[in-house]
Amino acid sequence: MHSEPTLTLQHARQQCEQQLTQAGLTDSPALDCELLLMHSLQQPRSYLYTWPEKPLTPFQQQQFHTLIAQRTAGHPIAHLLGEKEFWGLPLKVTPDTLIPRPETELLVETALNLLQKKPKFAENFQNPQSCSQNLSLLDLGTGTGAIALALASELPNTQITATDFSPHALQIAQLNAQRLNLPVQFAQGSWFEAVEASQTFDLICSNPPYIDPNDPHLTQGDVRFDPLTALTAEKQGLAELETIIHQAPSHLNTENGLGWLLVEHGYDQKEAVQHLFQQAGFHQIETLNDYADHPRITLGQLS
Ligand SMILES: C[S@@+](CC[C@H](N)C(=O)[O-])C[C@H]1O[C@@H](n2cnc3c(N)ncnc32)[C@H](O)[C@@H]1O
Repeated sequence: MHSEPTLTLQHARQQCEQQLTQAGLTDSPALDCELLLMHSLQQPRSYLYTWPEKPLTPFQQQQFHTLIAQRTAGHPIAHLLGEKEFWGLPLKVTPDTLIPRPETELLVETALNLLQKKPKFAENFQNPQSCSQNLSLLDLGTGTGAIALALASELPNTQITATDFSPHALQIAQLNAQRLNLPVQFAQGSWFEAVEASQTFDLICSNPPYIDPNDPHLTQGDVRFDPLTALTAEKQGLAELETIIHQAPSHLNTENGLGWLLVEHGYDQKEAVQHLFQQAGFHQIETLNDYADHPRITLGQLS
């Protein structure tokens, strides 16, 4: 029977880096290899540095080689590990869920800033246990639960509802909530159909599908492995944003001085999205740039 020569951790990493660099599909071959090796060994990063001369078992070696082959075939690291970190939270991801992106953390940060500006609610942050007034927030199209769970991790006394029309995505989001022990209510349905017609929220946020179905980027990189229903929208990517922005006013509660809607969108959709906010009667409309300096989050308040 053919058996592969035994590899030490150090050699395994070097071999992996060489193969991923040659394949040329990742900007971070060294990091990818570290993560794949940690996953094959079920050990933390420190283990790789402490025991570079340690040999992999045949099983670990086989697993590691399978992962390298999948990575060189383009599978995203998050799918191979089954996990992606968002807002410091380890989230389970599957091919049914969008892999949470770092730029979406800006939406979380912006929502927290808006809530913090309200003196009444500021104590929520300083002394979560003593918060007297409950806020209620809605995350539409939650996927892995990323936004809702990030907000729940910061605002323990807040009622957070998260929706998706995909039952498979909701299952993963629910699992993530359980694993992280974060109280989020989940509801299935298309946008606001998932909640009661009379239900209102102090703040609504969404990272909906916003890519034009003809966008050539859809055939490149990690995005090829995201579910298309999480990515694309008709009307040059604006159809779902339009639905959300037009329907949001009847679900926003302005009595607490909040009444904010925040959406993530494409880098070239700022003007169109701002126009939709104006048409729907929002004020204080503003667009924020992401860390790559692309217009990414638009917000507006109903008064
Ligand atoms: C771009 S992903 C965002 C996922 C997650 N919020 C995040 O930021 O990582 C869009 C999500 O919207 C969901 N979605 C698409 N159309 C929807 C609809 N009509 N109603 C509710 N959810 C929808 C998809 O299933 C997907 O989970």
